[in-house]
Amino acid sequence: MVNKEWIDKGCIDEPVEQGLNLKQEIRRMCKEKDAIILAHYYTVGEIQEIADFVGDSLALARKAAETDAKVMVMCGVHFMAETCKLLSPEKTVICPDLTAGCSLADSCKAEDLKKFKDEHPGYKVVSYVNTTAAVKALTDCVVTSGNAKKVIDTFPKDEKIIFGPDYNLGNYINSVTGRQMLLWNGGCHVHEKFSVDAIVRLKAEHPDAVVMAHLECKAPVLAVADVKGSTATMLTYAQQSDKQEFIVATEAGILHELERTCPDKRFYPVPPEMSEGVGCSCNECEYMKKNTLLKIYNSLRYGWPTVEVDPAIARDAVKPIEKMLSLS
Ligand code: 13P
Ligand code: SF4
Repeated sequence: MVNKEWIDKGCIDEPVEQGLNLKQEIRRMCKEKDAIILAHYYTVGEIQEIADFVGDSLALARKAAETDAKVMVMCGVHFMAETCKLLSPEKTVICPDLTAGCSLADSCKAEDLKKFKDEHPGYKVVSYVNTTAAVKALTDCVVTSGNAKKVIDTFPKDEKIIFGPDYNLGNYINSVTGRQMLLWNGGCHVHEKFSVDAIVRLKAEHPDAVVMAHLECKAPVLAVADVKGSTATMLTYAQQSDKQEFIVATEAGILHELERTCPDKRFYPVPPEMSEGVGCSCNECEYMKKNTLLKIYNSLRYGWPTVEVDPAIARDAVKPIEKMLSLS
């Protein structure tokens, strides 16, 4: 039985008996319950190690649409679990910690977008996948950082577009397509902390290193980056490149997969502006880090927390995601 304390916390972090091998138990329960574990590259390494599938937000959405498993445990943040539920409403979707939010999704409330849409009749709305289902329900087409340019290129050149909520991604797409999309002023608190100064310093220490930056970074950071894209873009580039050193401007969780798949190459995480010189030298998303083996174990054991979406919202919210999948 799910108790009130867990409901208030949005997760079950109840300790388990000492010596229990959580990784083994999670895999055993996945088999027993026909469950798969999906994990984003920003989760901690030990979760990526037990996942059935690790990916960026585009690959995770694709996987959620095609899996045969009865249960999906989405280790990422809440909007990702919601996307899984929208694409596979008949499945049980577990989000190990319901409080794993996203500053970017929080920066665009459905009621504010609705008002903005009403003020701009004739505009199409393109939303980044980092949004709530209610925002997706007001959207014509969803994009991820992995397909934003490709999807937007399918719109007529003179189409009037509202793009949100990530200002930096929208600004980048405007700059490479020559469009003048109206941009929502939202941002990711993790990626916005990267500074050009820190990159320049790292580059002075490692002059041969390739600079890779996520499209959620600010324009000056993107301007000095050699490789710009989603987490999967950066991974593929590093894996296929002849270069040996890489300066990485994205969430630190990606280092696990970079180092796992490129053991002979070296990766230098860009430190965030705020903590340069003190404490942690990498940038972490505290929401992604809410996923733990213990919470995954308990969520499989109790079949909770699950993600549900109001059917009236789900009906409209799934359409722009399916449109994106068909275009990319
Ligand atoms: P991608 O997974 O598309 O690279 O996006 C990163 C992100 O911020 C996920 O929250
Ligand atoms: Fe959201 Fe940024 Fe965390 Fe991604 S890294 S989940 S965009 S807060």
